[in-house]
Order: sequence, then C-alpha cells, then structure tokens
Amino acid sequence: MIFSNLIRNSVIGVGLASLVVGAPASSAASSSASSASSSVASDSASGSSSQSDSAYTVPNELTLGVAQVPNIYNESAVDANVAAKGYSLVNVTTIPRGLTGILELKEATNIYGYDFEHLNLTVTYQSDTRLNIHIEPTNLTDVFILPEKLVIKPKVEGDTESFNFDDSDLVFEYSEKDFSFEVIRSSTGEVLFSTAGNPLVFSNQFIQFNTSLPKGHAITGLGESIHGSLNEPGTVKTLYANDVGDPIDGNIYGVHPVYYDQRYNSNTTHGVYWRTSAIQEVVIGEESLTWRALSGVIDLYFFSGPDPKDVIRQYVKEIGLPAFQPYWALGYHQCRWGYREIEDLVDVVDNFKKFNIPLETIWSDIDYMDSYKDFTNDPHRYPTDKYQDFLDELHNNSQHYVPIFDAAIYVPNPNNATDNDYEPFHAGNESDVFLKNPDGSLYIGAVWPGFTAFPDFLANNTQDYWNQMFKDWHDRIPFDGIWSDMNEVSSFCVGSCGSGRYFENPAQPPFLVGGEVTQYPTGFNVSNSTEWKSISSSIAATASTSKSSPTSSSSSSIDSMNTLAPGKGNINYPPYAINHAQGEHDLATHAVSPNATHQDGTLEYDIHNLYGFLQEKAIHEALLEIFPNKRPFIIARSTFAGAGAYMGHWGGDNNADYDMMYFSIPQAFSMGLSGIPFFGVDVCGFNGNSDAELCSRWMQLGSFFPFYRNHNVLGAISQEPYVWSSVADATRTSMAIRYLLLPYYYTLLHESHVTGLPILRSFAWQFPYEKQYKGVDNQFFVGDALLVTPVLQPGVKKVNGTFPGANVTEVYYDWYTHEKQNFTDGKNETLAAPIGHIPLHIRGGNILPLQEPGYTVAESRQNPFGLIVALDNEGKAEGKLYLDDGESLEIEESLYVNFVASKNELIASPFGDYNASQPLANVTILGVEHKPKQVQFDGSKVKFSYENSTIFVTNLETKTPSGAFANQFTISW
Ligand code: NOJ
Repeated sequence: MIFSNLIRNSVIGVGLASLVVGAPASSAASSSASSASSSVASDSASGSSSQSDSAYTVPNELTLGVAQVPNIYNESAVDANVAAKGYSLVNVTTIPRGLTGILELKEATNIYGYDFEHLNLTVTYQSDTRLNIHIEPTNLTDVFILPEKLVIKPKVEGDTESFNFDDSDLVFEYSEKDFSFEVIRSSTGEVLFSTAGNPLVFSNQFIQFNTSLPKGHAITGLGESIHGSLNEPGTVKTLYANDVGDPIDGNIYGVHPVYYDQRYNSNTTHGVYWRTSAIQEVVIGEESLTWRALSGVIDLYFFSGPDPKDVIRQYVKEIGLPAFQPYWALGYHQCRWGYREIEDLVDVVDNFKKFNIPLETIWSDIDYMDSYKDFTNDPHRYPTDKYQDFLDELHNNSQHYVPIFDAAIYVPNPNNATDNDYEPFHAGNESDVFLKNPDGSLYIGAVWPGFTAFPDFLANNTQDYWNQMFKDWHDRIPFDGIWSDMNEVSSFCVGSCGSGRYFENPAQPPFLVGGEVTQYPTGFNVSNSTEWKSISSSIAATASTSKSSPTSSSSSSIDSMNTLAPGKGNINYPPYAINHAQGEHDLATHAVSPNATHQDGTLEYDIHNLYGFLQEKAIHEALLEIFPNKRPFIIARSTFAGAGAYMGHWGGDNNADYDMMYFSIPQAFSMGLSGIPFFGVDVCGFNGNSDAELCSRWMQLGSFFPFYRNHNVLGAISQEPYVWSSVADATRTSMAIRYLLLPYYYTLLHESHVTGLPILRSFAWQFPYEKQYKGVDNQFFVGDALLVTPVLQPGVKKVNGTFPGANVTEVYYDWYTHEKQNFTDGKNETLAAPIGHIPLHIRGGNILPLQEPGYTVAESRQNPFGLIVALDNEGKAEGKLYLDDGESLEIEESLYVNFVASKNELIASPFGDYNASQPLANVTILGVEHKPKQVQFDGSKVKFSYENSTIFVTNLETKTPSGAFANQFTISW
C-alpha cells in the first residue's frame, strides 16, 4: 500500500485533535494537521522536547501509577465473607439437564461495588463428568459476558433434552433461605465444593464465593506464577496478566482460572474452572478457598476426574486441545538479547557446528529491528540482503529461524519524514485496528520503540491487517515461526501517555536499555534486565511520591480514590485492590490501562487477561496464510485458558540462579495443568550472569523439557553452551539423549495434542494417591517411562531422589548402565551426579522408540530406529510410536506402532500409511534375568550380546529393509 505523506499527516492530525487524555487543552482543541505541527513546533521551541534528539526519553513520571493498598494487606479492609448478607433462592424449577432459580439479594452491603438485586441461577449437568453452575444478574446492563467467540464454552454432551442424573458422579445440592450450594461426588458421598456458611457476593465490581476445603488439602493450578506446585494455606493467587520478571508468588504473564483438588483420603481428584477473563484473586486458607473477580459473571465448571490425569484430560478437552507442534520444534533452540548484528547470528550458528553441538533453531531478540519497530530490520546491522543470505544458508542446512515480535506498534512522528514512513502504523490506523481511549482517540502507550499503539483483536479489520503485515514481513525475511513477546499487553507508561506526545518520537524507553556489560564474576547475580530496572526505578520513585497526589496522565483524568461508581464502576481503580505485582499495584503500571477501549466498546478492564491469547490466535491465523497446512510455530508469553491450542510458552524473565532452575519444574507442571504442554524456560537463566556450573546443570535439565531454549538478557555474559568446555561436554551428553529420544518425544507431543495430557508429569499425577509424593517438585517424569532427577543446587556431586513404588510395584533401570536399581519405595536415594551427569532412570514396564541422533531433527529422522524394552517385575512392557511427516496441519498419512512385550517376546504392530523407510538397527531389552540361549527375529536367529541382565540385539537393518515398522515383527528370547 502506498500513501502520501499528506494523507498520513492528515490522519495523524485528526488523531491529535481527539487525543485529549492528558493533553493540554490547546492541543486537544487543534483539529488539523497544521495545528498538530505548530503544537510540536511550540513544544520544541519551549525546550520541553526535541524531535531530533534521539536520546529523548519517555519521562519517568509517566510511568508512575497511583499507589494502591492491596486489600489483602489492608488491615481496615472489610471481609466480604463476614459483612455481606448473601442471597436467597426462589422459583427453583427443574429443567431436563438441571435446574434454574432466582437469587434475591437479602440486603445490600455494596462493599466493593453495587450489589445486584436479582440473579439468575442455572445448573446444567453437561455430561457424566461435568457440571456447570452459571449465575448472572437478571439485568445484564453494564455486565460483561465473555463471548464464546473469544473463549470456548464447554457444551452439553449428548441429548440436550434429557439426562439420567444417576449417571453423573457430580451432584448439585442447595439451600434456599441462606443460599449456598454444594457439589457432591455421588460415588463417595464426599463434598467437593461447599459455599455453606459464606455468603455469595455479586456486585458490579466484585464477585466472591468461598468453598470449604479439607484440612491438609492439595490444591494445584491457578497459574501462572513462580511457586511450588501446591498452593498451600496462605497462598494468594492474583490472576492479572503482568509483564514482570518472574517474582516468586507474584502475578506474571498468564492467567489460568482453574484449580485441581487432589484428595488423599478418598483417592479422588476433581477440577474447578471459572470461565472468566476478569481480574481475579484467589485466597487459599487452611480449610477454604475464596475466589474473587472484579467483573463478569459466575460460570463454573466442575470436572469429576476421578484421577488427576482424568481431570487434566477433561478440562483441556473443553478449553482446546494443545497445538500439535512441528517435529523440528523438539530440536535445540539458541537465543539471546544482544546478537547485535547479522554477523553475530552467523558466528553463533558456526560455533555450534564447530563445537559439534546440535542447533536446530537460531532466534532473534529485538536487536534485528530498526529502532525496535515491528516488521522492520535494521538496514545497517541486519541489512536485508545479508539477512536473506543467512536464512537461505540456514534453511539449506535444515535449520530454522524464529524472530521476536512485540505486541505494540510504533506510532511515527508525523513531523519527521523518515520516521513517518512506517507503514505498519499507517496501514493499521487507516484500517482502524488500534485500541482507543474512552473518547475515541487513539490509545498511545510506550514500549521499546517509543510511543506505540496496540492492535485491537476485536476490531473488524485487524485480522486482514495482521495477515498482510506478516505476509509482507515474511516475503522479505522468511522466518519459520514467531516468538510473541510483551503481549500482556505491556506498556511502559501509565495510561495513554503518548496522547499529545507521539510527535516526540522516537522516544527511548523510560529507563536504560541493556546497561553496561558486566564481566563475570563482577556483577554476578546482579540483574541486568531492563524491565526489572524499570520496575525498580518505579518502586524507588513511588516510595517518595506515593503519598502525594496522582501525577500520571491517566490518573489525573480519572477517579483514583477507589470510590464506588455506578454502571461499570471505577474501572481504573476498582474498589477492591488486587495484589498486583507492580510497584504501585496500579492496574495500569506496565500495562495498557483498563480504560483502553475496543472497537465494540469492550473495555480492557474486562478482557485484559485475554490480550495475549487473542493476539496469538491472530498470529496463528496469519502464519497459516503464509504456510498453508503447516503447523504454525509460536512461542508466546501471555497465555489464557485455551491458548495452548495455538502456541507453546516459555517461562519469561527468570534469573540465572538455582532457585529459578528449581521453579522451572513446578512451572512446567502448572502449564501442563493449563493445557500448555509445550513449555520450557530460559535455560541457563535470563537475568544476570550465568556460570559454568549452573549452565551445565541447566543445559542438562532443559534437555528434558519439551521446549529447549537457552536465552539471555542484554548485557549479561555469553552463555551459549560452547562458551565453557564443561558446559559443552554436559550439553553434548544430554542432547545426545534428547535427540535419541526424539521419536518418544514426538509420540508424547502427539498424545498431548489428542488427549490434553502433559509431557512432563509430576509424581502426584503418576502415583496419585501416595501421600509421600504429594508436591514433589524436584523430580519429574517424561511421559510415563523416564524419571529425571536433576541437580538443583551448586557445589554438589550427589543428588537425592525418590523412586515411587521401587521394589514394591515398580522397577527402575539406570539409563546409562541399564542396571536394575535396588531402590526402596519412599526412601531418599542418593545418586552420584558429578558435573556433566544428570541422573536418568527408565521405569520398568515401558518401551521407548529411539532414532540415531543427527545434527538436526531432519538428519535424525533419516537415521535408523532403535528400541529400549524395560521389563517390569512380571517381565512385561508396552509402548507406542506415532509418526507422520512432522509438519502438516491436516495429517493425511500417519503411522502408529504398538509395542507389547511379555513372556520373552516383543511384538511390534504397526498400522497406518505413513512410510518411515529407515530400518530398525537395534533393540535393547532390560531386566532379563538369565542369558537366553538364542534371540530370534520373526523366527530366525539373530546375533546378540548379554550383560548386566540386558540383551543387546544389533545389526537388525537387514531384517527391516523397507522400514523398521513397515511390517509387524516379533522378537523372542
Ligand atoms: C522481555 C522478554 O521476556 C525477554 O525474553 C526479551 O529478551 C526482552 N523482552 C527483550 O525483547
């Protein structure tokens, strides 16, 4: 699209005329391009800014929110459970699938909003395992109802007009006078959820219910946060998507309003999902769970399980099954912030080759962009021709490239011809796809490039605009996937701070980007994260100003005193203040503010938690336009229930320290519970300098996560695995295992895609009702077959681990020696773990498909297959393999192989029409007590060796010339 500067200026001019939030009255009154220019001229003349000064910085005061006292820390805050009077239930009517009734407010208390007088209650038995409780005001004016087109709504299964209530394991019971309800498990009679004794509170800005929990409960879920997997009493989960560097227990990037309640007394687990995009807070007590939301309605789904994996499957199926990642996604990914020029990428790729460390995908952070503007590349540091040559070479070597993409779009300076030549803004502005202020003017925040606008994924033209932008970009820079960052959605200033100021662009972020390069060990453990710097500077500034009156552009125009307001209420400063993990707890700190308005009138306040999710869906669609029928590869930061259907996730800005390495494990579990199995963290740590020992441990741990990427902050020392020879060695060792296991991982990816089951699994899911394995976060299973015991602390050569069921029901084999381990169930076993060694065990009863590792995934896929058969106590094992072309969205040809071993015989039964032509090379059978006299392949003798109770059958290629699994085969011993 070509637009003249004249048109561009006039579009901006009109924008400026209506940019009133925080703008001086004189510029607000201007209505033409010329007045826009004169306003800039007079600003410049007064010396308040200079458009030509590239060091101009967004003023720090624009980053300061209004200090809020989180209710949970406010000693004078009213406890709604005590003060509210609740509702009574009348007009109960039975319907084919449940019941309806009207809730009448007993007495208004209007604690944190205006109480609704009448509510509709609808209870629906959706299936034998799912119950829905829906409560909404009878008058829906000013009530946000989450549209199904934004977030899927679980549907009634089967005949909608009839249901056999006896088939349901969940039963709804209620009290009318003082309305309360219970959900009971019919098979055990156990009360799973009970609001008895606590009033329902339902007002325009505050909804609250409370359930009792058994003492000693095991509640998991309610991500995303950096926390152990158990939500112990005293835990407060704030559910508000937040761009912040992984604070322990604070709200971070994603929101998953679901919890799992695992009961060790009755050996059952159930799940509860509140389908709401609202700002929420959940308080876990000794024997209670209190759930609060600041808007919307109650739309609760109960999943009956009864085992944790059943609940995961039931929940994930309803929110959206995880995306099937392409096979290459399982390869190793290298990233950092600070590959300043294209030559850096060339060097890194070469170095990996030189040091013989597999590299599948090289990533770019914002370094490649021209002044941090999306869809651009720096003409000097990343010139298009060199960039394209690099990508050609990469693709010729079957490697991949993934660039970062930031959520916000730069708003160019209309008075600077070069700057104003930024098509992505003009195209978007002309198609009307950006978020607005309440008065209809453009909402302008600030991110890396300076003042920015934010695509509105509810606007009519956004998807077309998006498709075009991504296509144009890909035509120039043929990337293979997208890394979607800053989509909480982040903005470095409070409110529409760029209104009336964007002509000061390009403006620098309101803090130093990157900072000094620190040399190890100086500065070790000191954060270099720019975002952290921004936050800490805000905290420092707030400390001195928090008692003074509001200073920010958004706050000066709105009521910041938490007072009750009619209609939608006080959306910028709701009367109930959540414990938002930003300096001032202001909802608009480091985010687009709640009053930003979508084209259909929806407020960010109501769907802030969906911004990233909706953006990821849009990127997914744009990538499908570019690569029809190829699985889009997206790794994204902000997530919501159902986002896993479109993307994988990385854990955000962790630190290069052992704590964060440890927390990566429960974070992976929590993502698994949230339908996002394709997960990994910044291996070796993002903020701060890593070191050889930490990086060595982490490269090995990370090699077992589904998504395996090393990433580092600007200014920190390099941490590619070849930087230290000990790390290079450790990495080669564990990568060889990962690449050998690629068929196993791919089979797990497929399983997660069709069932919702996580790839990394906690002890609590694998051995659900053995109390001693509750909340184990330092070990994990990959699928059902592999148990990883990583070293998570410095300076040790040993690590402790437990082995559920060992020597009782289970057998464990050491991966490296194949030896059957003499472990005791429940005992802490001490394992040797010198640097470079990560303890790995195979659980007996499993068969693992393998393939000889190559340098890339494509190369590996050309190599012969192998099998490890790990027999259980009864000499049995089973496993499976799934294969296809590794990239098609609509899969036409697949291969499924079932492996069953029993009574000294292994049978491999393939079905499906995908042709994997590589032969079978070897089969290793663990746990064979006596050396067999002979081993046969389909009845004919084959050579084998025997050692440590293990049979090694090799050189099977000639037996399987048309492909390892082209035909059924039997191996007997
Ligand atoms: C924040 C992201 O979380 C981080 O991974 C990235 O390096 C920086 N933004 C810079 O783009």
